[in-house]
Amino acid sequence: MVLTANRRFTFCASRRLARASWAREESERVYGAGREGDWGSGENYQVHLVFAGEVSPHTGFLVNLAEVKAALRGLIEERYDHRFLNLDTPPFDALPPSAENLAVTMLDEARAACRGLSARPVACHLRESPQRGATAYASGCVEREAWLDFSAARRTRSPHLSEEENRELFGRAASVAGHGHGYRLRVVLAGPVESDTGVIVPHAGEAAALADLRDRLDHTNLNLEVPELAAGPVTTECLARFVFGALRASLPVARVRLHETRDLFAEYDGRRFGLGLERAFSAAHRLHRRDLGDEENTRLFGPCANPNGHGHRYAVQATVGGELDERSGTAAALPAFDARLKAVLAEWDGRHLDRETAEFRERPSTGENIVTVLWPRLDGLLGGRLTRLRLIETENNRFTGRRAVEA
Ligand code: NI
Repeated sequence: MVLTANRRFTFCASRRLARASWAREESERVYGAGREGDWGSGENYQVHLVFAGEVSPHTGFLVNLAEVKAALRGLIEERYDHRFLNLDTPPFDALPPSAENLAVTMLDEARAACRGLSARPVACHLRESPQRGATAYASGCVEREAWLDFSAARRTRSPHLSEEENRELFGRAASVAGHGHGYRLRVVLAGPVESDTGVIVPHAGEAAALADLRDRLDHTNLNLEVPELAAGPVTTECLARFVFGALRASLPVARVRLHETRDLFAEYDGRRFGLGLERAFSAAHRLHRRDLGDEENTRLFGPCANPNGHGHRYAVQATVGGELDERSGTAAALPAFDARLKAVLAEWDGRHLDRETAEFRERPSTGENIVTVLWPRLDGLLGGRLTRLRLIETENNRFTGRRAVEA
């Protein structure tokens, strides 16, 4: 398992994407409408900086996120927050401030600002709007993400299973009466960033492919009105595979994630499937070491060392990966997955992690240590198929374990 820690920052800024010499049509083709005004348009940006490294056995931190906050606050406040990027924030006086270029530049700047810390950022994920974002990796890779919303009715069932098997696997979702979801699709595009425009794909091509997909799916009955789905199992995994194939024809799609609800999604990258589930537990804790006094604990852990404790509602996102079982159209049996995840989290729900559980008596209950304890326990119950385990401690701090990539 490879662990990363993630700190979120927010800033609001205005920016103009189109070049002054461009005709309006060219600007709209590359960036979409409304991106060419002299004084720009605005966004509320979110930046996630992802750190990789070893967890210190002493502190339980991969990197102290309070120190990350201190190291980067100046950068965000002085260069990005409440700025017009084209005039206030070089190199965006010359470089288009696209999501891709912002992610690349901010990753470089954050790596320099974090030079003195125990770990440096390996990725910068920039969310520009609810529909658009980009991620830059220290490897040099850049990805763009786009989101699409659509609503559809369906009956979750596989024609290859008996009625009884369908009921057992899909429960009420298999009912002949059908049901519906407001789906939220994330499409990740990968490729070189065009130096002239700062984007991986011009807006017009992406928007046309997404609009075409929405036309095929939005306000339809998936079993009856989408011929490509009707003959096989209608499941979230099969729908994810369908949208991947449909978009791949015209876009450099690396992977898709299809949210059926906020806390249930399927992923597909052309080879492997993932099924993700989010559940929560509520616990009190205190970051401290028993072998140190209050003063030393406060020095190490700041306000998190409050002797009387504090707490979180922790969200835990688990993803199981693997091949699709073509007979059922599923990558994992959801009822068993859900029951196992809930059972593992129930052991901590309503407890004080340091005082009332055995696991954190001798090690600080940091997010890193919670993921480290949870991973083998959950992976064991899921037959060794856990591929990702994310702990969201607060909106700003999250910790993610991923199965090490096999060579
Ligand atoms: Ni805490």
